[in-house]
Amino acid sequence: MTFQVQSRFSESEKLSVLQAEFHRCFEDQELKSPFANVRHFDATSIVHYKAFDLLRQKVEQTIKTETDYRVSFRKLWLVNTDPTDSDQTKLPYIPHFDKERYLKAMIYLTDVIDTQDGPIHLLDQEIQGTDQRRRKLPKNHKERGLNHFRLNENQTLQPIPGAAGTLILFDTNTPHKAGLVSPGHNRKVLRFDFEDPEWNRKSLLRKVIDRIM
Ligand SMILES: [Fe+2]
Repeated sequence: MTFQVQSRFSESEKLSVLQAEFHRCFEDQELKSPFANVRHFDATSIVHYKAFDLLRQKVEQTIKTETDYRVSFRKLWLVNTDPTDSDQTKLPYIPHFDKERYLKAMIYLTDVIDTQDGPIHLLDQEIQGTDQRRRKLPKNHKERGLNHFRLNENQTLQPIPGAAGTLILFDTNTPHKAGLVSPGHNRKVLRFDFEDPEWNRKSLLRKVIDRIM
């Protein structure tokens, strides 16, 4: 699967509950936050946020019934993006694949209707050999641009717009990039990451190489 889109995955009634919970999480300074515009939950902490946990269960059910992936929930990120958070010269705003492979379930909490709202961009094509490339990436791959994906003339990343409540499922082996949020716009997203235990398992040799590089 490259990607799958379901519009109206969350109905307007539940959407307002999710939006209110999202807002509360950004008011709470105690919550774990890898970046100023992100809040982080794992399998232990999400259970205290009922609206998010119920949505996680609904996403899990969808993955199970509509895809061949057999994956487990790892984390939820709440991402609140303003134009000042977007730098088109850096990751994740340039085409790339992720070093850690996940099946990501992104749910727009705001309308992401046109390109100014910053929709995610995805390639509608399987690319062979990404797992092999991914596993060989050194720790400093980001600075060296080694996980960038260079498009040829037949390849374009498509913007994936959607109204609030839209679900986008994609495998991070699929070349993708974040959309730039234009001045006067804001994008709020819930992103659930799911993992197959085999995807990110490191061999002993890989662990040694990572330590010395
Ligand atoms: Fe990415």
